[in-house]
Amino acid sequence: MLTMDDFVKEDDPILRKVALEVPLPASDEDKRILASLMEYVQNSQLHDIAAIYGLRAGIGLAAPQVNVSKRMIAVHLKEKDDQLYSYALFNPKLISHSVEKAYLTTGEGCLSVNRPVSGYVPRYARITVVGTDLEGKSVQLRLKGTAAICFQHEIDHLNGIMFYDHINQDDPYTVPENSIAVVR
Ligand code: NI
Repeated sequence: MLTMDDFVKEDDPILRKVALEVPLPASDEDKRILASLMEYVQNSQLHDIAAIYGLRAGIGLAAPQVNVSKRMIAVHLKEKDDQLYSYALFNPKLISHSVEKAYLTTGEGCLSVNRPVSGYVPRYARITVVGTDLEGKSVQLRLKGTAAICFQHEIDHLNGIMFYDHINQDDPYTVPENSIAVVR
């Protein structure tokens, strides 16, 4: 299983690379890696396991963060209405988005960034994502709220983009134009 020791550091150049498409059907090795991303995110939210292995809690993880420059992400999060979004995807792709933006009022964090970074991160309020799951099935998701923000954060990792790249450096708490506040 993955632990924090498997994570690359924030300044690792792999986090700035555009990750490669995963050839489908996925190899057993790629499936194993994707499953391990999901396992980490799930375990990190289980208090006892997280405490034993020293796992920092997260809601999403992308393969480059564990030193694999391939297009794979895992997201596991419960929205405030208790709806669970749990997806491990090969080659996730944002195919459409709203004009309206959104931002988390708490800002964003990242398992690759071991320091607090303050500021609002402008994202699209609603997105449609396609990808392929571990069983090889095509998936199409329409997302809003925290789930939409989380998917955008993880897909950014596949394109070498860090969340703080989006923060207004001169005024980190500028409310993005035409945006809604998302309270986690
Ligand atoms: Ni991240």
